Amino acid sequence: MKKFLKVVLYLFLVVVVVLAGGYIYLISAFPKVSNATDLKIEATPERLERGKYLANSFAFCIDCHSSRDVNKFGMPVKPGTEGQGGDDYGEGAGFVPAANITSDKETGIGSWTDGEIFRAITSGVNKDGKFLAPMMPYPLFSQIDKEDIYSIIAYIRTLPPIKNKVPEKNLKFPVSIIFRTVPSDPKGFGKRPDGTDKVKLGEYYGIACKFCHSQNEKGEMIPGKEFAGGVEFPLPDGSIVRSANITPDKETGIGNLSKELFLAKFKSCKDESSLDPKTRGYNTVMAWNFIAKTAADEDLMAIYEYLMAQKPVNNKVEKITLQGLK
Ligand code: HEC
Ligand code: HEC
Repeated sequence: MKKFLKVVLYLFLVVVVVLAGGYIYLISAFPKVSNATDLKIEATPERLERGKYLANSFAFCIDCHSSRDVNKFGMPVKPGTEGQGGDDYGEGAGFVPAANITSDKETGIGSWTDGEIFRAITSGVNKDGKFLAPMMPYPLFSQIDKEDIYSIIAYIRTLPPIKNKVPEKNLKFPVSIIFRTVPSDPKGFGKRPDGTDKVKLGEYYGIACKFCHSQNEKGEMIPGKEFAGGVEFPLPDGSIVRSANITPDKETGIGNLSKELFLAKFKSCKDESSLDPKTRGYNTVMAWNFIAKTAADEDLMAIYEYLMAQKPVNNKVEKITLQGLK
């Protein structure tokens, strides 16, 4: 019996040592990312304009990195909060507030080099090389054209400084370990399409749409379910909204939605006075107003063409489960 206990104790110690070793390895070896380069981005008028367009539309930077008005339909950005961060994107993983990306030197990224900002956006580590949670969608941003990222950086450097100290994130175990291993050097960049092929252009601008409208399992999109919707987003009042099926399926997707109506859906959210969730019957995380305010019609049309070129997937999604309804 004594011998048996000894063996159990021994095995237990081995397990502890292996686990501790694995833990120390994970903490010390990750994130595995190269040093920031000494990139210097010249803020030409073309870059500033392009960066402003992307950051305020299809790259969603300003949407996530500002304070959103949860009492209005589509939660528009509160004017004057652009870039200040603080909204929580943690969902099940813990508390993950968006960073302050204004030019404030103390609480924002005013003291970062262009190379450090570039590395944060495309590899997923901060100035000090510490990992960023992938709620900051850096794996997506390494798919866009380098030149477009330069433009975005040139533009966010012009965001007026806002003093706002965002609290540290607080991740639950084991995501706190898993997220460390996600940052990596980008494997190559995308290429901005010249616009002659509308479907290609739509694919380029639709990267974030795909992200929210495709179900995923352990961070990977489920093959065959791209754009079929059903991803759940909890709302502040406890209701749950689910991303729509935006494949061309006629029954459960947007196969019967004309180009004109697609565009009209966005346009109807452009005016702030039209954003009462009560008249609309629900609220949503889909940034209707944010996109409507900035995105060019022709780029939205390209996304429509791209969506219509996808495989229809039959997947009925219940848009909303309202809290408190009997
Ligand atoms: C879906 C929401 C979302 C979008 C879209 C998004 N971010 Fe972020 N971003 C975050 C969150 C959340 C963090 C904080 C992550 C953390 O602390 O681990 C963050 C962190 C950062 C950081 C690191 C700052 C710091 O102090 O550590 C930078 C820089 C940044 N984002 C820039 C951008 C830019 C530029 C864009 C657009 C190209 C963008 N983000 C788009 C949510 C987002
Ligand atoms: C933050 C996640 C998120 C992003 C990013 C996002 N959507 Fe959505 N989308 C939703 C949710 C949730 C709904 C369902 C509720 C609603 O109608 O607003 C929705 C609904 C829609 C609908 C309505 C479909 C219908 O049948 O009523 C369309 C069209 C749509 N999204 C297109 C897009 C396009 C195009 C983009 C990219 C420019 C995009 N979405 C980006 C979350 C998102």
